[in-house]
Amino acid sequence: MATFTLPKNSTVGGGKTFKAPAGATNVKAFKIYRWDPDTGENPRMDTYEVDMDKCGPMVLDALIKIKNEIDSTLTFRRSCREGICGSCSMNIDGLNTLACLKPIDEVKGEVRINPLPHMPVVKDLVPDLSQVYAQYRSIEPWLKSETPPPPDEERRQSKEERAKVDGMWECILCFCCSTACPSYWWNGDRFLGPAVLLQAYRWIADSRDEATGQRLDNLEDPFRLYRCHTIMSCTRTCPKGLNPAAAIGNIKQLLVERHGA
Ligand code: SF4
Ligand code: SF4
Ligand code: FES
Repeated sequence: MATFTLPKNSTVGGGKTFKAPAGATNVKAFKIYRWDPDTGENPRMDTYEVDMDKCGPMVLDALIKIKNEIDSTLTFRRSCREGICGSCSMNIDGLNTLACLKPIDEVKGEVRINPLPHMPVVKDLVPDLSQVYAQYRSIEPWLKSETPPPPDEERRQSKEERAKVDGMWECILCFCCSTACPSYWWNGDRFLGPAVLLQAYRWIADSRDEATGQRLDNLEDPFRLYRCHTIMSCTRTCPKGLNPAAAIGNIKQLLVERHGA
């Protein structure tokens, strides 16, 4: 598990503490990264004491309660609240995960919440995903085929062919994996990172797609693909239990086979 501590010369200052309501007996503290570029102030960590007898079980429940009842300025993304949209990814207790799937009682002591690491921050817990979405666009994540489908029919796959995209179609593009990858931290401008490479392999593995050669050409590059050093942090952190490192390994294997052919 990656843990993040601030260096001694960090400019992230101590923040405000919002005390629990009087009479609360089951209190949990949430220490949350706060930064609003419009104020010109340095980032800080604010502490919110939440009455757990009046809060749902997940970290996202606590964030919504804090925003609704304690501090409406707290900013974060969320939508589905059930692990489908990928919006609420953040670093909780040192691990990149989804706030809506993270039970509060899995965290001993105070719950420390930071934005996804090594991404520019827009505000508070909201990372700027522009670069990673541009990289996603670069792999052309759609079916490419010259052969027209049979008239009035869908393009068919056998059960075995369909099974080859299992473990990839479930990816919700939360980017917990890419932001846990040391290679992506240091070379994120040129290395595509595990989330985008898993998506690239999703189309390579799809029996209906006819652009495999072109897709492999696009990936065969010392930075775009080969900055992956099989450190496996991506697979360890994926909140959907997927294995981007294996997908990357499969792409490398196909490139080896192509050169051997
Ligand atoms: S296996 Fe590759 S993509 Fe995954 S964390 Fe390691 S270097 Fe990054
Ligand atoms: S592979 Fe997992 S961690 Fe990475 S973007 Fe997809 S769902 Fe998120
Ligand atoms: S709110 Fe959609 S994944 Fe968490």
